[in-house]
Order: sequence, then C-alpha cells, then structure tokens
Amino acid sequence: MARSDQQTLPVPRHIAIIMDGNGRWARERGLPRTAGHKAGGETFRRIADYCRQIGVKYLTVYAFSTENWKRSQEEISGLMLLLERYLREGLRDMDKNGVSFRFFGDLSRLSPKLRRLCEEARARSSVFHDVQVNFCLNYGGRDEIVRAARAFAADVAAGKRTPESLTEGDFESYLDSAGVPDPELVIRPSGEQRLSNFLPWQSAYSEFVFMDVLWPDFEPKHLDAAIEEYHRRDRRFGGT
Ligand code: IPE
Ligand code: IPE
Ligand code: MG
Repeated sequence: MARSDQQTLPVPRHIAIIMDGNGRWARERGLPRTAGHKAGGETFRRIADYCRQIGVKYLTVYAFSTENWKRSQEEISGLMLLLERYLREGLRDMDKNGVSFRFFGDLSRLSPKLRRLCEEARARSSVFHDVQVNFCLNYGGRDEIVRAARAFAADVAAGKRTPESLTEGDFESYLDSAGVPDPELVIRPSGEQRLSNFLPWQSAYSEFVFMDVLWPDFEPKHLDAAIEEYHRRDRRFGGT
C-alpha cells in the first residue's frame, strides 16, 4: 500500500468523500441495499485508517444527507442501526485508531441514542490529533447555511453582533465546519458527477475527482489515484 511513486508529493491536508454507490454494489450481487451499506462501512474504516497512515489531517465523509430521508423506512432504519454499531465499535477501539470525530449536520432529527453516541464519540476522541474525521449525518449544505444564518441572526437580535460586521470568515464560524480548513480535494466514487448538497460553501475552490468505482470497492489505490489527479491540477484561485 506504499505510495511509492508519489512519496515526495504532499498529501492534501483535507480530503472530503461522498461515499456513494452502496446500493448499486448490493444490487449487482443480488443483496439487500443494507448489505451495501455494511460493506461501505468497512470501506470507510479502511480508508480512514489509510488517511491516517499517509498523513491526511482532515477527512470529511458524507454518510447520510438531509435528502436521504426520502428512502424506504426499512433502508433508513437499517442505516441508523449500522451507524449505532459503528459508533459503538469506534468507541471501543478508540485508543488504537487515534481518530478524533466531529459530526456535521442537524443531529436533532436522529434518535436520542444515536445522538448520545455521537456526542460521546466527539468528546472522548477530542484528545486524538492524528486525523480528524468529520462525519456528515443528516447533513445538507443548504441546511447548514440556513442554520448558520439563523444563529447569526439570533446573535444580532441579542445585540451581540451587527449585520454590517459580518465577513466571510465570521460566517464560517457559524457553520458546522467552524475551524476546519476547506477541503483541497473532494472525491465522489460511483460515477455520479454532482455534489448532492455536500459542502457547497467549503468546496467553493476545491478540486473535484469523480471516479467510476462503487464505494464498497474503493481501495487505498483509488485514493492514491485521486491524489495524483489532484497534483496534476493547476489551482489558480482566480489568479493567473
Ligand atoms: C451511498 O450509497 C450511501 C447513502 C446515501 C446513505 P447509495 O445508497 O446512495 O448507493 P447507490 O447510489 O444507490 O448505488
Ligand atoms: C449523496 O448520495 C449522499 C451520501 C452519499 C450520503 P445520494 O446517493 O443520496 O445522492 P444522489 O441522490 O445520487 O444525488
Ligand atoms: Mg447514491
């Protein structure tokens, strides 16, 4: 798994991944969609571990969107159960993983049990600094911006802020991603070439790599390939 051909290239500090294609992976095998989500969960573990090995500092993953509530009750309950199990196992193995967790999204719609697990994972893992995983759960970029706008408006109403004082940098401090640098690289496996409401504010200047592999089949070599592609890009940020 050595990145032999690119060891001299720096890895992006922050990589964001839309973990997509679990359903198709399951369908191809004649399995229920939940089996695809389970396999996708294993992939997440392997990729998070690989990110730690190669020195990625922030890994943001899209696990459940504000739009995913449109799915069948059976699929949603299956996903929520899997999430609970992964969080429990994550809490158990926390010391050997060295990962710190943060959660982006509106957690208020999740079950109290799942919310407690998220909060426990966040609090207990905050002492680790190898890699920070930002887990997007009931996350939607537009919802995040609206919640930030509400929080800012509440500060204005409370007399703590004035509308004129708001800058882009201040606004960021109201987002779920407060304090996290923007992702240099956003990867979407599964062949779809869209953002699906993932990090619209933060990815304003990210490089996008779309890949024809389903998330459960995603391996460290695919991450290497995406990083290589990232290094071929010429990032100009509006300059020349
Ligand atoms: C991504 O895989 C996981 C979630 C959205 C929860 P999908 O379930 O969207 O898989 P496809 O796109 O149907 O193959
Ligand atoms: C985006 O994938 C959400 C996650 C991967 C969690 P979707 O499968 O929900 O996106 P669409 O429906 O293809 O846009
Ligand atoms: Mg999908």
